[in-house]
Amino acid sequence: MTNLMIPTRPTRPASVTARAGTNIALVKYWGKRDAALNLPAAGSLSLTLADFGSETAVRFASDAGDDGRDRVSFGGAPADAKFADRVRRFLDLVRSRAGISFRADVATTNTVPTAAGLASSAAGFAALAVAASRAAGLRLSPSELSELARRGSGSAARSIFGGFVEMQAGTRSDGSDAVAHPLLAENAWDVRLCVAITAQGEKEISSTVAMDRTATTSPYYPAWVASVAADLSTARQALAARDLAALGAVAERSALRMHASAIAADPHILYWNPATLAAIATVKRLRADGLLAYFTIDAGPHVKVLCASADAAKVQAALAATPAVLRVLVLAPGPDATIVNES
Ligand code: PMV
Repeated sequence: MTNLMIPTRPTRPASVTARAGTNIALVKYWGKRDAALNLPAAGSLSLTLADFGSETAVRFASDAGDDGRDRVSFGGAPADAKFADRVRRFLDLVRSRAGISFRADVATTNTVPTAAGLASSAAGFAALAVAASRAAGLRLSPSELSELARRGSGSAARSIFGGFVEMQAGTRSDGSDAVAHPLLAENAWDVRLCVAITAQGEKEISSTVAMDRTATTSPYYPAWVASVAADLSTARQALAARDLAALGAVAERSALRMHASAIAADPHILYWNPATLAAIATVKRLRADGLLAYFTIDAGPHVKVLCASADAAKVQAALAATPAVLRVLVLAPGPDATIVNES
């Protein structure tokens, strides 16, 4: 009996692979109250997507390796220095929490065509949080995983959960209450997000830099932050009622207010291109024709359109026929981040 009472250290698997879907915010996160801990200035609300994210394998090696450094690959090739450094800093958090000092092998692949031109840091850090913590021998709750993922990227905290998810701003200075929680499971509402790709390549200004510049120079930033709580409350009610028109109205308002605050920064931050505006016009025309379709835009020029699953083909065709729209993806709600292989 006494032996059973002795706390044992959980065994550490050799290698863990986790998968997470990316997410698109319907009530946007834009601005931090603490940059070091990635604490958001306000809450946000998002939809996690299926078949559109990252798969990450992590193995902590007990040997020191060639140079004792973590080895990070992306899409089968060594990752670029910036990405590898971000991953190493994240692994340091996991190592210090687990009390280990092993270096790691990390292999990340995006489960989305890279040519889509959509950022995947949300899915990437959610998958890394799940895989690295488990490979380090930690057993974290979904809420603890969300808190950990947030340290990699603010939006990654939401990708721990499937379906519709709310991220709380939290009030504690250590960030322990700045975590996401699920609102509606992936199969609870049959909606789609149609993503109109309007440009190739990387965005010009990273969200971290853009948020900081907006917070420090935009006269509209305080008004933006003050507006989020009411949008969250309306969005929660719309979700509970499965009211697409109400949720869509909040999503458009939130995206436009976020971009308005960024456009008013100094120097200005303008992510849109002519095709972005053309796609917005298409959405408004569809709506004038009686179809419930609503746009949102992140830190880039692409336009994501929320609609009922039954209308997705029509929305896709209308967006694809819009001048300068390169292609359109139709994405369904997706599941929680999960371990897909452990050995
Ligand atoms: O998680 P980050 O630092 O990449 O910021 C995400 C910012 C937006 O995508 C524009 C909005 C959001 O809530 O996801």
